[in-house]
Amino acid sequence: MAKKNLILDVDTGIDDAFALLFAARHPEINLLGVTCVDGNTNLKQVVINTLKVLDAAGAGDIPVSKGATRPLIDEPRYAEHIHGSDGLGDLGTPLSTRALDPRPAVELIRDLIEASSEPVTLVPLGPLTNIALFLRAFPETAAKLERIVLMGGSASSGNATPAAEFNVWHDPEAAAIVFSSGVPITMYGLDVFMEPRVNAAQAAALVAEGNTCSSFAGRLIEHFIKQVGHEVTLGDYGAVASAIKPELSTYETFKVVVDTTFGPGRGQTLCDRRAWKDDGDATHVNAPAVKVAMQVDVPAMINLWLETISGK
Ligand code: BDR
Ligand code: CA
Repeated sequence: MAKKNLILDVDTGIDDAFALLFAARHPEINLLGVTCVDGNTNLKQVVINTLKVLDAAGAGDIPVSKGATRPLIDEPRYAEHIHGSDGLGDLGTPLSTRALDPRPAVELIRDLIEASSEPVTLVPLGPLTNIALFLRAFPETAAKLERIVLMGGSASSGNATPAAEFNVWHDPEAAAIVFSSGVPITMYGLDVFMEPRVNAAQAAALVAEGNTCSSFAGRLIEHFIKQVGHEVTLGDYGAVASAIKPELSTYETFKVVVDTTFGPGRGQTLCDRRAWKDDGDATHVNAPAVKVAMQVDVPAMINLWLETISGK
């Protein structure tokens, strides 16, 4: 079976955990490495959480390294009201004994791409700070990437603000660098992010299976449901699913401009969806064309995740 080489960049985070568990366990994914970025919570906690999740997944020796402790320009702003004070549902999961890779995130990404004989897809699931720094530091290596499939942005509404999705809003300058890098981009954003959802019965079934991965995943879902009061999205996982099974989503290609101004639109991914264009200026004409996920096959995405997590 042909495996797909992925590097995940995460700000773990409950739904990053759903994505990591899946990436570490799916037989068609060769998870080359994981890099951590400040986002849902601070970098130190993101690293702790990421190592714990890899333990829960029963993952092998996958290199994990630390990246940026803050956005390029803005101060960090966390999302602990959603992800728990530890960013991982406050489940009291024991600390991991895994060792961190000593290389900074940008160097680990470079080394993994250079060492791979097969194409590599980068899957950022948090703010794009590490990815922007990597693109600027090692453009020749970046040019070898097959694609970047990122969770971020929106062709419709935002969540952090009416205009902006959290990951792009957290570091708009980094996002602008990534979107205009010339690397083929798939944006798995808020247009589809909330669609694949799991409920309390599915969480209970995972816990009842009793293996470490499924009960960890089930308890995370239960915490998340308690927090929001209804079924919850598998969120970032969808971007990983799209990276290996693009046929599970349908896409439209838009020219995208990231708003880096300091007004109410800061962090918006302004997608040119006009049917009739009467261009006042060339901003959008010259903008990068991005493949944007607009619909997902919800049952297929949920089943793929449940089967992979429960090992069925
Ligand atoms: C994104 O922000 C984080 O809270 C989630 O993990 C996801 O990556 C959604 O806006
Ligand atoms: Ca995330």
